[in-house]
Amino acid sequence: MSITILAIESSCDETCAAIIRDGKIIANIIATQSVHEQYGGVVPELASRAHQQNIIPVVSQAIHTAKISKKKLNAVAFTRGPGLLGSLLVGTSFAKAFALGLNIPLIEVNHIEAHVLANFIIRNPKFPFLCLTVSGGHTQILLVKDYMEMEVIGKTLDDAVGEAFDKAAKLLGLPYPGGPFLDKYAKKGNPDAFSFPDVDVDGLDFSFSGIKTAFLYFLRDRSKTNPGFIKNNLEDICASYQAALINILIKKLIKASKKTGIREIAIAGGVSANSGLRKLLQSHIFRTKKYNWNVYIPPLEYCTDNAAMIAMAAHYKYLAGEFADQSVSADPRMKP
Ligand code: KG4
Ligand code: ZN
Repeated sequence: MSITILAIESSCDETCAAIIRDGKIIANIIATQSVHEQYGGVVPELASRAHQQNIIPVVSQAIHTAKISKKKLNAVAFTRGPGLLGSLLVGTSFAKAFALGLNIPLIEVNHIEAHVLANFIIRNPKFPFLCLTVSGGHTQILLVKDYMEMEVIGKTLDDAVGEAFDKAAKLLGLPYPGGPFLDKYAKKGNPDAFSFPDVDVDGLDFSFSGIKTAFLYFLRDRSKTNPGFIKNNLEDICASYQAALINILIKKLIKASKKTGIREIAIAGGVSANSGLRKLLQSHIFRTKKYNWNVYIPPLEYCTDNAAMIAMAAHYKYLAGEFADQSVSADPRMKP
């Protein structure tokens, strides 16, 4: 018998629905909420309202794209957390009602675990592997032992790297979310044009508050004597700052690989869409004898928030018989 699952993602500012059949994604729909752009960041209240408006059309479109009838669905999955409470509640309530209406099982999914499992949509990483999970809210190195067994071995002590991208982009006058824009300008710039402090913390943890502050002072000081500094050097500034952030990430990943002896390396989350990070990890350096890494990088559309990754996680949970009951509620601080 084939297994077909509808998955909903509504943890932040994208309303997403996907359908997976026997482990293959057959629909993946994303409605991005443009309402937040004018505020330079996600406004939680507006996000919840937009999810409420988008969820039915997005789910209908997923079902239409997959060319199936609702009756063919074996389960419905949703992101339980972490994320914005109001946003999560929309997806959670929708999924519960949908499961009840069709009398099918309900599957709860952890957003961070789903980002990691996005790697399985195209390839099959070998367990155990390390996953650098980098998004707007999280920066972690996970030791992934099995589909549902992940241990956080390193994490940020302050900002997430996605925030370090977005806040810097805001200072440069780029639109929100700034990560992809900073990446775009960085492609044409010189990464060695400017240098930023290499802030390090003990062990496998990260810190981005130091480099973020250094960047603020750097722009302020240079602009004082040269008001056109940002405009005239935008590409070099982006390239240099991006290189500094990537350097922090990669150094910890190398340390984690040495410490654990694991050479199967994956990346996940919105920042894994960064072209500089992807290029570096695909370079020959990590294939040399010194590292001998097997690197897994999800296709771009599965890096930033999407429901295909929720569907992938749900598929494994279905096979393991892990279902939620109707008393389940959203968990904004859910841990992997
Ligand atoms: O995983 P995600 O879509 O949402 C969260 O779960 O947070 O990650 C969003 C983050 C934002 O900070 C965004 O600026 C960043 O991912 N991002 C990027 C790129 N694309 C998205 N950062 C750097 N370069 C990119 N190309
Ligand atoms: Zn995410």
